[in-house]
Amino acid sequence: MNTVLDHIELHRDRYFDELKQFLAIPSISALPDHKGDVRRCAEWVCDELRRIGMPTVTLHETAGHPIVYAEWLGAPGAPTVLFYGHYDVQPVDPLDLWESPPFEATVRDGEVYARGSADDKGQIFMHFKAIEAHMKQNGRLPVNMKMLIEGEEEVGSANLDEFIRTHIDLLKADVVLISDTEMFERDTPSICYGLRGLVYFQIDLRGTKGDLHSGSFGGAVANPGFVLAQVLAQMKDRGGRIKISGFYDDVRALTEEERTEFKKLRFNENQYKKSLGAPRLFGESGYSTLERVWARPTFEVNGLLSGFTGAGAKTVLPAVAMAKVSMRLVPNQDPDKIAKLFEDYVKKVTPRTVEVKVTRMHGGKPWMTTLDNPYVQAAGRAIRLGFGQDPAFIREGGSIPVVATFQETLGLPAVLFGIALPDANTHAPNEKLDLGSFNKGVITSAFMYEEFGKTGAGR
Ligand code: BES
Ligand code: MN
Ligand code: MN
Repeated sequence: MNTVLDHIELHRDRYFDELKQFLAIPSISALPDHKGDVRRCAEWVCDELRRIGMPTVTLHETAGHPIVYAEWLGAPGAPTVLFYGHYDVQPVDPLDLWESPPFEATVRDGEVYARGSADDKGQIFMHFKAIEAHMKQNGRLPVNMKMLIEGEEEVGSANLDEFIRTHIDLLKADVVLISDTEMFERDTPSICYGLRGLVYFQIDLRGTKGDLHSGSFGGAVANPGFVLAQVLAQMKDRGGRIKISGFYDDVRALTEEERTEFKKLRFNENQYKKSLGAPRLFGESGYSTLERVWARPTFEVNGLLSGFTGAGAKTVLPAVAMAKVSMRLVPNQDPDKIAKLFEDYVKKVTPRTVEVKVTRMHGGKPWMTTLDNPYVQAAGRAIRLGFGQDPAFIREGGSIPVVATFQETLGLPAVLFGIALPDANTHAPNEKLDLGSFNKGVITSAFMYEEFGKTGAGR
């Protein structure tokens, strides 16, 4: 391992220039105008995988954006790691809030600012450099490595499940390794053992066939903007509890043990409130902030649209109103079942004075694992070696839909070792990657393959 670490030390200076190239490609999966950029990014990943020494690299076409697959299987008897990550990124708007251009990586105060720096290009690049160090130094890896890097994670991984179902033999492995989550805080390396799931909807209301003068017609027909507010107000009570009938039926309750473990984590509610600029924190009563975000489901409004929103005033009675809403789910809630409950509830609480249309969008299942898994233990040892301290075991509020698919379709446990900091501004302007965490992350990843190799679970 020493020579691998020397290699990292010796080559670290060029890492930023390479990462900068990767981050310069605007691989925004949601925007049709960027389809060519997403493909160019997939090709960049293929070229990079060949450069770092992966002998087999293929680009798979899908109905959407390409999937990149690579493998090195030169360690018979050793375990096989399936590494998963995504090379697509979120849109960058609002652009004027970026302090430097989103696709020109810029370092300020030891952080790389760019879209994708933390989610997820920087984190997959960290593994590329760890693999490169092993391959260039020793000509081999301590484990067999299969890599699956997709370009549709940020739009719901619509074509990935199908790829997995049709490539079960190709993807046979012992463990999935993912770096697409956060650390609990700076200098607290973390292993994430639970993710929330998601169901996402658009609600469209129509009151009349066109906009109307609010003086001539106001009072004669329902206002869809107002009705939408009433419908949304039916979703939660004042204590933050979701009122959709049956919504909590399958929610796995937090155990006393887990609540005690959460309490041991250094979490300052007041500082958290300040860092968010919120006048007060709010969530389901009876739960702490960490419990609310990690282990309880939520209902959120993601966007609202109705009537006149320009400068000045316009007396208009809007014809339509639209909302984008989503629910984060926890084990053992099922997205299909919750979707049905939600649709029925919307129809029940919407008055007949408007037409209502509910459209389901992307989503994914929640996921959770136990900590006694030998790979989680091995990852913990690698973190101790790379960061010089014990990992925190955390859950997270975000979703990575494919993790449940790996579990269900391939029967694979997963290790989620993320190095993004909580203030990384993922999905927001000024997304950033902390270089100190990245550097330790490269070393830890290099150790992790080695520790995985020692589990003796190879087939
Ligand atoms: N990397 C995130 C998931 C994440 C965020 C994990 C925060 C842990 C903490 C991922 O890229 C993401 O944004 N996922 C989407 C999934 C959705 C588009 C189906 C999410 O959580 O909204
Ligand atoms: Mn991500
Ligand atoms: Mn994301």
